[in-house]
Order: sequence, then structure tokens, then C-alpha cells
Amino acid sequence: MSDPKILVLATGGTIAGMAGSATRADYAPGQIGIEQFLSSARALKLDAQFTGVQIANIGSEDMGPDVWAALHRHCLAALEADEFDGVIITHGTDTAEETAFLLDMTLPTNKPVVLVGAMRPADAVGYDGLRNFANAVRVASNPEAAGRGVLVVMSDRVHAARDVRKSRTRGTEAFRGFPRESVGLVTPSALEWFGAPWRVGEDARFVFEADLPDVPILLIHAGMTADYVTRLVTNQTRGVVVAGAGEGNMPEAVRRALAGLAADGMPVVRASRLDEGLVDREPEDDENRFVAGRALTPQKARILLQLLIASGVTDPASIQMEFDGR
Ligand code: SIN
Repeated sequence: MSDPKILVLATGGTIAGMAGSATRADYAPGQIGIEQFLSSARALKLDAQFTGVQIANIGSEDMGPDVWAALHRHCLAALEADEFDGVIITHGTDTAEETAFLLDMTLPTNKPVVLVGAMRPADAVGYDGLRNFANAVRVASNPEAAGRGVLVVMSDRVHAARDVRKSRTRGTEAFRGFPRESVGLVTPSALEWFGAPWRVGEDARFVFEADLPDVPILLIHAGMTADYVTRLVTNQTRGVVVAGAGEGNMPEAVRRALAGLAADGMPVVRASRLDEGLVDREPEDDENRFVAGRALTPQKARILLQLLIASGVTDPASIQMEFDGR
């Protein structure tokens, strides 16, 4: 059997970063080009053939609609072409979960799509980028990866886009999943799935749009007044996600201000600012016309709400059904 053919889309991040010394703490992400990266990867003699495309070379704090549109276009073409068996996206770790979730919602699941990053730059002692990449190759070469949606591979674990979150600023074990911790274990020589694929043969759940509606996130904190809502919401705003305290809670004055917006037709989703935040519906949500974000982080709840509003879904009951289904 011939080696699987993998399209590698490079966007930058620490996996392509350089410090200029093996021990320096500060470094610049997005310094190495895809051909230089792939020549190091080819030296590992992995059982795969690579085609590299440089989509961007940025720190992922600058990730946004233009790069997302290019990634989506290249992924879709590769999923439709006989030429490729899977796609790997090299990405900064800071916003990898958002890119993974957006692509997860807008791509069909007929071939593996895997995001991978690194916590240490390429010239640092203990660079984790090549090991993570070798693991990603094993996952992207496995046809069973396809029916699990977009995946994120970091530190020998495979995470589903819905669950994955960056939870640490230091160390290579920086990612975790919630509510599912991870969906598989991987090394360069072995891959073990925890259970069967759950999205086999699914079409894209939403049409991809680069120009998504304006949906800000309101981070709740002690001492917050209703003014914070007025300062956040502009004429452009089409919905609001609350990164609430505990189970999506907020001060009474903020609740009243947001309930006023919801009464006028603005979708409001309650998520949690906690790393393991699970927000269920409470009786007051009916009266407030709020939506419970369930297990999605505020940043993923924002993407789902943007996709829903862009596809014309704006009433709280229909939005709630979509959040319940994720
Ligand atoms: C980034 O997200 O681009 C910087 C941090 C990283 O990749 O680890």
C-alpha cells in the first residue's frame, strides 16, 4: 500500500517559532516556513507524503476571518480531491481551539482534519513540535479519524474540537478536554481510540462565512454594573455571549440590561468563565429569553452563535436546541 498523502496547511505559531537560543524564554512565533518545517519532518522518515502550503505565518492571537477563509477553502478542496487522504493544520496554540471548532462546524467529515501546535519554539531544547507533528501524521493517516470531526493533537493526546481547550500557559501538557478529556492516545508508532467514530459521513453543519456577525463576549466579574453592557453593545452587535461567574451567573443589574436586549430580539447566551464550566438552563432563562451555553467555552459559544445568526436562526428556543445538540 502506498503512503497516505497529507496536505499540510501552515499558519505559524510556536510550532514555527524561533528564540535564537536553545534556552531563551522569549521567542517569536511564525518564523519557519512550511518547506523548512517539512524538511525536518521528512528526516523523521514518517510513513506519509506531504504537500505543504503556507497559508500565513502569524501568532495565533492574530487569527481571524481571512486566514479562516483560506483554511476552509484549502480543506474543502482537499476533502473533495482524490489527491489527499487527510489534512494537517499547523497552528499557534493560543486560539487553536477556535479554529478547530469553526472548521468542525463547517466541514464535512469524510477525511481526517487535524490541528497541531507546539509549546516550545523550534530551536528550544525539548522542542515538542516534531513529536506533535509525527503524532498528527499518525492520526491524519487513519481513516477512522474522519468520523470524529476536526481533531487537535497535542502531547500524545487526541482531542475533539468541541471539547478541547488550552488550559496552561507553560509546559507541553497545555491542553485538556471537557467534558470528554480526550478521544484517543497517540504516539508516533501507535494510535488508540476511546470508542467508535460518532460523526461518520456527516455533511458540514453550517455554510462557512468569513463575514460573521458581531458577537462580543462579556466577561463577568465582581463589582460589574450595567454600564459595561452599554459600553460593549453597539449598533453592529447581533448577539452577546456572557462568560458568567460559576454556572453562567451575573450581577442583577447586568441581568436586567441583557434581558432588555433579549426582549428586543438580541440573542444572549450564558456560558461560564470557568475552565470546566457546564451551564444548564434555569427557570429564569425562559423569562429572560436567555440561552444556556452548556459545555461550550465562551469563545466557542460565540462562534456557534455567530454561525446560527448568519444562517438566520435568532429565536432563543431554536438557538437553545442547537447548543443542546453540541
Ligand atoms: C500562538 O498561539 O501563536 C503562540 C503560542 C503558541 O503557539 O504556543
